[in-house]
Amino acid sequence: MDADAQKRAAAEAALDLIEPGMKLGLGTGSTAKHFVDLLGAKVKDGLNVICVPTSQATRVQAEALGIRLTTLDDEPALDLTVDGADELDASLRLIKGGGGALLREKIVAAASGGLVIIADESKLVENLGAFPLPIEVVPFGLAATRHLVEMLAEDAGCSGIITLRQGLDGKPFQTDGGHLILDCAFEAIPDPDELDQILRFAPGVVETGLFIGVADMAILGGPDGVSMIEAEDEDEDDDESDPAA
Ligand code: A5P
Repeated sequence: MDADAQKRAAAEAALDLIEPGMKLGLGTGSTAKHFVDLLGAKVKDGLNVICVPTSQATRVQAEALGIRLTTLDDEPALDLTVDGADELDASLRLIKGGGGALLREKIVAAASGGLVIIADESKLVENLGAFPLPIEVVPFGLAATRHLVEMLAEDAGCSGIITLRQGLDGKPFQTDGGHLILDCAFEAIPDPDELDQILRFAPGVVETGLFIGVADMAILGGPDGVSMIEAEDEDEDDDESDPAA
């Protein structure tokens, strides 16, 4: 099975989690595209779901497949979002934003009862950071924000080349929200939680591509089929650490 077949297998497994009447968030990227294709086929067969896309690209795809769409303004609480990731670790900490949709992806995930990540197993890493971390920033004061991001990242033990993402037209890539993306080639992120927190001190940073404590499950396609990683139940942890509980 090549990587694309593994992505599709993960998307097929995620489809089993979908029940009639669900309100779904639809992710962005090549893996999420498989899921939307498969969901579209189910909708054609009569499955009743309503969905919020995380990008204009996914909106166009879903519309073409006849999937009923809505917005978070009309449906502020979704049941489940299915999305891809650029990297994930065994604790389900993610790097996302390779497709430039990280802000909407995070907003939709936060509005959902659950986030299921689908990916081929090459995305599973021991330590995050080989994939350049996307950071969404406002255009105003770009050079100053970039400098501040560099300084703050150093405080979190991260350094590397920070580049302004370019679009296919050779101009700076613009997100669906009209922002820019800084791709930070840190190579390794010793403490993703600390880096995520510290980057928030930069006023020009809209959102980081670190998704921590957001995903509930990952479905990974591999050469021998799919495997799953589930998030640890925080309540169970609390119970274990508190003998009085
Ligand atoms: C989009 O902004 C990203 O977060 C994607 O979910 C991520 O880049 C995964 O994309 P692929 O499924 O194409 O690898």
